[in-house]
Amino acid sequence: MKTILLTGATGTLGRPVAALLRTHGHDVRGLSRNPGQDFRADLTSGNGLDTALRGVDAVVHCASDTRRMGRGDVTGTRNLLNAATRAGHPYVLFVSIVGVDTIPYPYYRVKLRAEQLVRDYGGGVLRATQFHDFVLGGARLATRLPIVPAPDVAVQPIATRDVAARIAAALAAPVSGRLPDLGGPQVLQAPDLFRDYLDATGSTRRLVAVRLPGAAFRAFRAGAHLVPGHLTAGETWADFLQVRIR
Ligand SMILES: NC(=O)c1ccc[n+]([C@@H]2O[C@H](COP(=O)([O-])OP(=O)(O)OC[C@H]3O[C@@H](n4cnc5c(N)ncnc54)[C@H](OP(=O)(O)O)[C@@H]3O)[C@@H](O)[C@H]2O)c1
Repeated sequence: MKTILLTGATGTLGRPVAALLRTHGHDVRGLSRNPGQDFRADLTSGNGLDTALRGVDAVVHCASDTRRMGRGDVTGTRNLLNAATRAGHPYVLFVSIVGVDTIPYPYYRVKLRAEQLVRDYGGGVLRATQFHDFVLGGARLATRLPIVPAPDVAVQPIATRDVAARIAAALAAPVSGRLPDLGGPQVLQAPDLFRDYLDATGSTRRLVAVRLPGAAFRAFRAGAHLVPGHLTAGETWADFLQVRIR
């Protein structure tokens, strides 16, 4: 049994990570800026981190300001690592995204800088492909429009519970530096995924594949965010939709 500090415990990934680590018998300290978790702390200011880190064996760093393109994430990661050093240098595992080093997308630049800090500390970096929930969010957003636009890119969506399983395995055998990338079980076209969503919700709206401009989307079209050689045997997009859309 380990004492594990989990940043981002209230997030899309953090919730299944906390649940799985607890079923493995670990003492999980959920961290959030808001009340309701075990520890209240703000990574960007650093307030509350020393208390949260006292006596931990490992840290799973899932927090990110995803809604504001990672604003404050580099400072937050630095604050976390400094506090971890003061607390005796526990293992830190950072969750990142496949392709952050090759896709010129502002949020990915932030993730790459945070990765480097974690690597300098001696922690582990696990890159995953897009979560099913992320694709679902995009489909829901697009469906607000009368004609549903879908980017003409491939995606390799993965279930957060499958990412959680890899995190649990990584904590059992901690490794410094990059872990093998983690990709979902299928590489599918985003317009097809959005079509599946429309079908699942009974929508008959027209869908159009759109070509988004810029270097980042060129890189996405080239598949820089995919790891077809690292398919997991986990939950497929179709399985996910069946559970989420009733
Ligand atoms: N979405 C994807 O498809 C995808 C794919 C691969 C990797 N990832 C990575 O996986 C990680 C988790 O993503 P997610 O989708 O679960 O994110 P999310 O749902 O947006 O959750 C973000 C979490 O970060 C916490 N947070 C943000 N700023 C904070 C701060 N200053 N101090 C403390 N906590 C802070 C939030 O906690 P409170 O609001 O409760 O404070 C929340 O729990 C991220 O690093 C992301 O880059 C995501």
